[in-house]
Amino acid sequence: GRAREVEDVSRLLAEHRLLTLTGVGGVGKTRLAQRAARTAGLLMRDGACWVELAEVTSPDVLPYAVVEGLGLAPVPPHLTPTDHLIGALHHREVLLVLDNCEHLAAACARLAHLLLDRTTGVRLLTTSRLPLGPGAERLYVVPPLPEDASLALLTDRAALLSEVSWSRDDLAHARAVIRRLDGLPLAIEFAARRLRALSPGQLLDRLDERLPLLSKGDPVAPERHRSLRAMLDWSHQLCTPAQQRLWARLSVFAGSISLDAAHAVWAEDRWKEDAGKEDAGKEERATGGRSGPEELLDAVDGLIDHSLLLTEPGDGAGRRYTMLETVREYGRDQLARGGDLEDARTRHLMWFRDRVLDVHDRWAGPGQAELLERLRHDLPNIRHAMEYGLRDGAGPAQTHAALDIARGLQWYWTATGTAGEGTDR
Ligand SMILES: Nc1ncnc2c1ncn2[C@@H]1O[C@H](COP(=O)(O)OP(=O)(O)O)[C@@H](O)[C@H]1O
Ligand SMILES: [Mg+2]
Repeated sequence: GRAREVEDVSRLLAEHRLLTLTGVGGVGKTRLAQRAARTAGLLMRDGACWVELAEVTSPDVLPYAVVEGLGLAPVPPHLTPTDHLIGALHHREVLLVLDNCEHLAAACARLAHLLLDRTTGVRLLTTSRLPLGPGAERLYVVPPLPEDASLALLTDRAALLSEVSWSRDDLAHARAVIRRLDGLPLAIEFAARRLRALSPGQLLDRLDERLPLLSKGDPVAPERHRSLRAMLDWSHQLCTPAQQRLWARLSVFAGSISLDAAHAVWAEDRWKEDAGKEDAGKEERATGGRSGPEELLDAVDGLIDHSLLLTEPGDGAGRRYTMLETVREYGRDQLARGGDLEDARTRHLMWFRDRVLDVHDRWAGPGQAELLERLRHDLPNIRHAMEYGLRDGAGPAQTHAALDIARGLQWYWTATGTAGEGTDR
């Protein structure tokens, strides 16, 4: 139900070289950008290129992430990544999509303007909750889904989960449900989940409890976040304590998550600087195995059931999981509120430190290509971990681990030519 918007965006892209889709999380920016890129990309000689930025946590890394996202040759040692980009894009006629720019707005604006100045055939489509900068770009505010499209989305999604044969009353209730959800596709998807166990009338009753109708003229009314927030609160309440803990703990990842890595941050005991590996193992057993691999798998399953965790095919090492940014943020709030942020981030850091050192040790042996490939998947997480260890106020063990990572990655930066990234820090 976005044909009109796709057309608008394509037209705007023909007129403006930098267009940003804005709107609250879950309104459908990414989805619209995907569709518009498919259409608008057809008109560009070299098509469209997609670069996902949600997992890039530092502005320094941005140009490297774009180089990687475009599949360009590694940055040669004598060039800055930006010059390398400009060189590669100079003769191309391409639509470059940067998805999820909000947390790097200023850096994205700088890079975008540099690219626009120094190339002639590059156009940029970005998605961001907020504009990249005042007057930096042409803005397009992604509108909420109209009522009919919302209802269609609700019934389609509900039909995927169980048979939908609604009476006239059911349909009226479903319409009322839709009106409470602000036309936010993500909120609608969560509501559709609930229709497996509840009739539309029952769903409406429960939404009424959660979402007091916003009175007309209320200055807070335009706050479209509310319905999504209410749906996330509801999902959270329906989760078992183990699922809630996993949701919170997985929020420390940047990018996709492997089962092994999930297990590393999932443990119940606190990470202690002086706890040797053997002691930590004993403690885990002492908790009665509540944080063991079977319980983890159960919790992962549950989060997938709630649509809170999404699955990717992954690599040779197994499936990988991802979270939508809005869902991740909710988890991060919970984690911080529960006072577990430090512990989870430290576990995340130590896990990726061990991975990097492990690869480093095995680098001289066989299977280099596979090692490199796996590391490439984990790079956003490794960078995120390193930033944590290098932040002001990090403990000595954390700092030490981050430096271990930097040292362990020397060969990677050499092997892939992204030497600048290592020395920038
Ligand atoms: N027009 C649409 N029809 C069906 N589903 C949609 C539509 N727009 C968005 N969605 C779904 O809603 C969710 C949130 O959309 P997304 O594009 O990720 O939002 P944003 O990027 O604004 O946070 C996704 O699961 C997406 O598949
Ligand atoms: Mg998005």
